[in-house]
Amino acid sequence: MGVMTIDGRKVEFTDEPNILTVIRKADIDIPTLCYHSELSVYGACRLCTVENDKGKTFASCSEPPRDGMVIYTNTPRLMKYRKLILELLLAAHCRDCTTCIKSGECQLQSLAHRMGVMDVRFENTKELQPIDDSSPAIVRDPNKCILCGDCVRMCDNVQAVNAIDFAYRGTKALVTPAFDKKIAETDCVNCGQCRVVCPTGAISIKTNMDVIWDLLADKDTKVIAQIAPAVRVA
Ligand code: FES
Repeated sequence: MGVMTIDGRKVEFTDEPNILTVIRKADIDIPTLCYHSELSVYGACRLCTVENDKGKTFASCSEPPRDGMVIYTNTPRLMKYRKLILELLLAAHCRDCTTCIKSGECQLQSLAHRMGVMDVRFENTKELQPIDDSSPAIVRDPNKCILCGDCVRMCDNVQAVNAIDFAYRGTKALVTPAFDKKIAETDCVNCGQCRVVCPTGAISIKTNMDVIWDLLADKDTKVIAQIAPAVRVA
């Protein structure tokens, strides 16, 4: 049990595992992309960064609360950092947001809107990666991955499947099955939990439309009308 000061307010804490949880308990809005209470802490996105009374900045998700701490969550400096982080994430991300299956529910897109990040000043220097649609359940688009590691921790630590992990470094870094295999060549059990935690369109569930397009690839429009309802029902 302790008391910390957040944005000038005294907030009590008991067994909260990190400062982020105390901030949220105080109903203060703070953006995150890589934090999930049910996953281990990774501290990758740095969007949850806060500032203490000495001007030191640190990620609130990976720091335990301490009695007497004084922190600020939304100073102009922090807002500037967060906008820059979002801009950098967007710079390394493919920009087909308007046609992306996750448009409207993408956390990166919604944070960019919310924080007024309209332009990206940096070029995308990452190599275009092939989309992996080998799985019957999910589609992986590494070009939309922000390397938050949520899917890796879900697949490896929670589901204990170990189908995907980080590979390579720097601008070549990506999340992929080992040895650049396709997802269908791994032990993936098609549980879809990676998609549940993915904040962007990097992992999406294969929709009925995908099935329909596969079925209709060589067929004419007359056949389309017969097949589509059957697939929807299934
Ligand atoms: Fe804390 Fe991503 S939420 S670093």
